[in-house]
Amino acid sequence: MAVVGIDLGTTNSVVATVRDGQVVVVPNSQEGYLHPSVVSFSPDGLKYFSVDAVARRILDPKNTVYSAKRLIGLPFRSDEVQKALVRLPYELREGNNEQAVFIGPDRTYTIPEISGLLLGYLRQCAEMFLSDSVNAAVITVPANFNDSQRRATVDAGRIAGLDVLRVLNEPTAAALAYGLGQNMSQRIAVYDFGGGTFDVTILQVENDVFEVLATGGDTFLGGDDLDSALLSILADLFNAEHGIDPRNDQAARSRLLIAAEQVKRHLSDFPEARGDLKNIAVGSSGEPLALRFHIARTVFETAIRGLVGRTIQACQDVLASAQLAASQIDEVIMVGGTTRVPMVRAEVEKYFGRPPRTDLNPDEVVAWGAAIQAENLANAGESLPSRAVLLDVTPRALGIAVTGGFAERIIDRNVPVPVEQTRIFSTSADNQTSVRIQVCQGESRRFEENVPLGELELADLQAARRGAVSIEVTFKVDTNGILRVRARDGATGAVREAAVNVRGAMSDSEVEEAAERQKYREASNLPEVPQE
Ligand SMILES: Nc1ncnc2c1ncn2[C@@H]1O[C@H](COP(=O)(O)OP(=O)(O)OP(=O)(O)O)[C@@H](O)[C@H]1O
Ligand SMILES: [Mg+2]
Repeated sequence: MAVVGIDLGTTNSVVATVRDGQVVVVPNSQEGYLHPSVVSFSPDGLKYFSVDAVARRILDPKNTVYSAKRLIGLPFRSDEVQKALVRLPYELREGNNEQAVFIGPDRTYTIPEISGLLLGYLRQCAEMFLSDSVNAAVITVPANFNDSQRRATVDAGRIAGLDVLRVLNEPTAAALAYGLGQNMSQRIAVYDFGGGTFDVTILQVENDVFEVLATGGDTFLGGDDLDSALLSILADLFNAEHGIDPRNDQAARSRLLIAAEQVKRHLSDFPEARGDLKNIAVGSSGEPLALRFHIARTVFETAIRGLVGRTIQACQDVLASAQLAASQIDEVIMVGGTTRVPMVRAEVEKYFGRPPRTDLNPDEVVAWGAAIQAENLANAGESLPSRAVLLDVTPRALGIAVTGGFAERIIDRNVPVPVEQTRIFSTSADNQTSVRIQVCQGESRRFEENVPLGELELADLQAARRGAVSIEVTFKVDTNGILRVRARDGATGAVREAAVNVRGAMSDSEVEEAAERQKYREASNLPEVPQE
């Protein structure tokens, strides 16, 4: 039985494992190592995955789901989902428990189910490649994923029939791949600019101890935004030529967006891009309309300067919270496809005052680290040169709502995990017999400016004057970054402990049903892998 590390990306996923002490990356069906994170559905229940699903983004945009990672673990009405809705050509609605659900041709799918289908596919790729069964995995997430996004990722793993050994932060995974067994003493920055998210993490590497000093970033900043910037340029050119704004036509927009991504990649290697895009839209008398374009890299750079600037700002914030200057960083590791953009490299070099390391494959380094950690956890790292000790931190402060619309912090940001903190509160009204504990994540003093995570209730309190009954609230964050909350009645000792009832999350029974469905699907139409 094999264990794998999975970098479940917004755009691409990578799956790797350790074999005879070496990391091996599982290839896709087209001789590459990136598996596009795309699932396409057909009305007869058939599903297309990865490279086979990519073309269907144009052929069948309504039934082809991509960028699911941008939606996972977020309630339908959250700003992020609402913002994504405008851009995504497939249909989402609000389902049970405020979840965002995809309206498929056969039925609706929750977002963890979509990611679960992808993980199931990756698992099968690994099983075929390794000729072995795969039941457990380390799955990576952006360091700044919040509690609900992490839980939803674990749910996705469970749906795929995987035992999720650990939810590992992507930058920590990259650092592990970079530094394990190297006997180094360095302070490193991992700058990860992917398809959908940006994060930056400062780590201290001392031999094989990896300590996260600070982490930050933006879950809504990635290569997709660079594509959108180029899409605007192309759409303006098209509009100027034909008097039609292709952004108002879903099919035309999808075609242009795919072209924009290709132009972007081309501009990473060449100073200009020229092209002739046929059949972008149809004119008033049904004639196909094309777009000839010529875009200089400098034009693209002007359009993305603000986006790249936001990543540098995030680097500044993170260094400030670690109380470090840019010059105190020994090495900068580049992760994610967007770090191939020359302007990104140049700005990073300018800010840190040293050229970033580009020798590690920015696409695979996270999956490498995940595979190493999976081996560590499952097989005690027997086949590895050394064992890593990972010291991660909480990406956001965690607190609860108190009177006056305020949030009272219980765990600070950038505190090493696992961590447990208790604070004592009291009732706020006379004869109050229950308290609602509303949990949030974020740095603001005002509750509503933070991300609400969920709530739990402590009932049967003794009726007394306000302030006379004490309530102990304990927050415990485990090594996966997942929070458990315990509330204890100070007088009777009654305890209510819960994984907070997360808004926008699947219930346990929903996850189990989805896992059953997937098992059935796998059993019904796929070859079997020999068991050991
Ligand atoms: N040569 C290139 N030049 C510019 N951008 C590139 C290049 N190659 C890939 N990209 C971009 O990198 C992004 C994908 O990066 P990556 O595979 O690291 O993201 P991901 O891991 O799926 O996303 P995330 O880490 O945000 O979840 C896409 O936006 C893609 O267009
Ligand atoms: Mg990534």
